[in-house]
Amino acid sequence: MGQSYKVWVTRRIPEAGIEMLREAAEVEVWEDELPPPRDLILDKIGELDGILALLTDRMDAAVMDRAKKLKVIANYAVGFDNVDVPAATERGILVTNTPGVLTETTADLAFTLLMATARHIVPSDRYTREGRWKTWGPMLFLGQDIHHAALGLIGLGRIGAEVAKRARGFDMRVRYFDPIRNEEAERRLGIEYADLDTILKESDFVSLHTPLTPETRHLIGARELALMKPTAILINTSRGPVVDQKALYEALKNRTLYAAGLDVFDVEPVPKDEPLLSLDNVVAVPHIASASFATRTRMATLAAENLLAGLRGTQPPTPVNPEVLSAPQRRR
Ligand code: GLV
Ligand code: GLV
Repeated sequence: MGQSYKVWVTRRIPEAGIEMLREAAEVEVWEDELPPPRDLILDKIGELDGILALLTDRMDAAVMDRAKKLKVIANYAVGFDNVDVPAATERGILVTNTPGVLTETTADLAFTLLMATARHIVPSDRYTREGRWKTWGPMLFLGQDIHHAALGLIGLGRIGAEVAKRARGFDMRVRYFDPIRNEEAERRLGIEYADLDTILKESDFVSLHTPLTPETRHLIGARELALMKPTAILINTSRGPVVDQKALYEALKNRTLYAAGLDVFDVEPVPKDEPLLSLDNVVAVPHIASASFATRTRMATLAAENLLAGLRGTQPPTPVNPEVLSAPQRRR
């Protein structure tokens, strides 16, 4: 293989993926802790055959219009709301993502947030460290039961289904809403289908597992939060804008909602003065749902496989817009 392909990896990712790319291409890695500035992406895109991009890189039509030979955008994430896919498809640019490999790790974190919020793990840890623990307290840090509670899943994709499996071990009653009802999954997972409002009204925990699309933006707003029980807990490991964050703050502050466990936010990183961060009934973590050593390595090798297939014109494992592969002539 010639070293003629030029590939840019927009942050340091696990080495296994970078090594795979180096076998077939000239690879440059952006080594900063922070994402490459937009201007640099705009400047650089013209010389690239492939880009391994992160969810922090906005890959829109303006970027693609500066591309001269770009064949593939390999996104290092399952979500691809940072990429304008129709614009890529129009230009014959393949877009790929990393589904499957991060499903269980993400479900693990959704469950971690569920348990941490229900049982006040973060504030009680702080309390212990700060020397405020005086005696065993019959009323100290009472929380919500997880076992036998009602869990509502909004979105039953791969990740939602894995959360359902975890819930079974806690004897939870699991219901889900998804625009596509899946009766096979209902039988396999022992879960029930319900409409969104019923799930919101009757669940003790609601966990979000939708992609961010125009249809799911602010899917959970003031009206939806008002339907939830005052003892209910909202978990979001999907994308911040699926929830109206201002409305969420109001509900949590006024205790019409018990707590929220959040991995994702409207604006990331969350500004220090974000009102949500002032609430003790919020557990906030920095978008780490897929952050295990093994999973990030699998994401790196999958993204690399996708990128290499995009360069070579072979079938990538997980394309987002496979239609560009069969287009009569790819423009690039
Ligand atoms: C992370 O949020 C991802 O979409 O993989
Ligand atoms: C993403 O992997 C999903 O389908 O939930």
